[in-house]
Amino acid sequence: MGQTLPPPGEALTRLTERFGEPLTASLLSDRRGSRTWKIQGPNGAVALKANNPKGDTARDKAAEMAQEDGHLLRLTAAGAISPDYRIDASPWDGGRWLAVRWVDGVPLWRALAVARGPEGDRPSVRPWLQHIARTWAEHLAGMHAAGWAHADIQPTNTLIAEGGRAEVIDYALACGPDGDHRRVPYRGALTHTTAPEIAAAVLATPADTHVHAQPAADVWSLGASLFWCWTGHRPVPYDDNIDRMDKLAVIATGRTTPLADVRPWPCPTFEDTITACLTPDPADRPTAKELITAW
Ligand SMILES: Nc1ncnc2c1ncn2[C@@H]1O[C@H](COP(=O)(O)OP(=O)(O)O)[C@@H](O)[C@H]1O
Ligand SMILES: [Mg+2]
Repeated sequence: MGQTLPPPGEALTRLTERFGEPLTASLLSDRRGSRTWKIQGPNGAVALKANNPKGDTARDKAAEMAQEDGHLLRLTAAGAISPDYRIDASPWDGGRWLAVRWVDGVPLWRALAVARGPEGDRPSVRPWLQHIARTWAEHLAGMHAAGWAHADIQPTNTLIAEGGRAEVIDYALACGPDGDHRRVPYRGALTHTTAPEIAAAVLATPADTHVHAQPAADVWSLGASLFWCWTGHRPVPYDDNIDRMDKLAVIATGRTTPLADVRPWPCPTFEDTITACLTPDPADRPTAKELITAW
């Protein structure tokens, strides 16, 4: 494979049966105790995730990987995600691995590079932005209808495919309708896209308490991700150097930077909808289903 961090051999053996040989692997990310590779074979490609067996959090990460597989199986059974998304998963010597369908797309930040600049202010960009937002809301609406929250909606977990279609990945932290008491406790995901009610709940509870994310939190995170990647500014103004709990305390106040202060150019409908997503009270936010028609 010609690289320093090869994927689990057991996974490659299984994927060879399905995708043929030779398989090539390229490492996409190696962070927070888990690694992801693109595995390409003659008959298709997958994203393969595995915990880092030598990481300090190897056991937690393996549990999270097993949890993501459980989520994918339940979401598929509920019709909330496409049945072709989950490919395969298994324990291995070093923990757990999981393979999902390869999504050919770019992360939201990169996809919005042009829209972020003054040259984004042109007729073709507006419908394209709205198409991204609408297709993203469609994914969420499907999960929410089945009683799930994704709970980790953020720019790197959203890939923009050809034509501006948003695809959601990374279901490790999702919160399902029937509480799973053995799950890894949810304590919020990326700080910058954490909804105020999640921030408040994390601050108010001990570190081992599960905070159950509701669909409205995904809507806030969707608005926050669009705000961030379109304007280049995160929606809640705090000093980057303060610690996470202090950031969560600022988020919990519900205050966000007015979009009109930082937008690259005016786009009234898009702005109004992003601002509505960032409404502090979850009960007053639009639902994902309502967003589909708003966009
Ligand atoms: N199905 C996929 N298709 C394409 N790229 C993917 C896919 N799944 C993950 N990736 C890439 O790998 C990165 C890490 O995967 P992710 O599931 O988000 O794991 P984690 O955030 O827990 O490390 C993603 O940000 C993305 O760049
Ligand atoms: Mg991720």
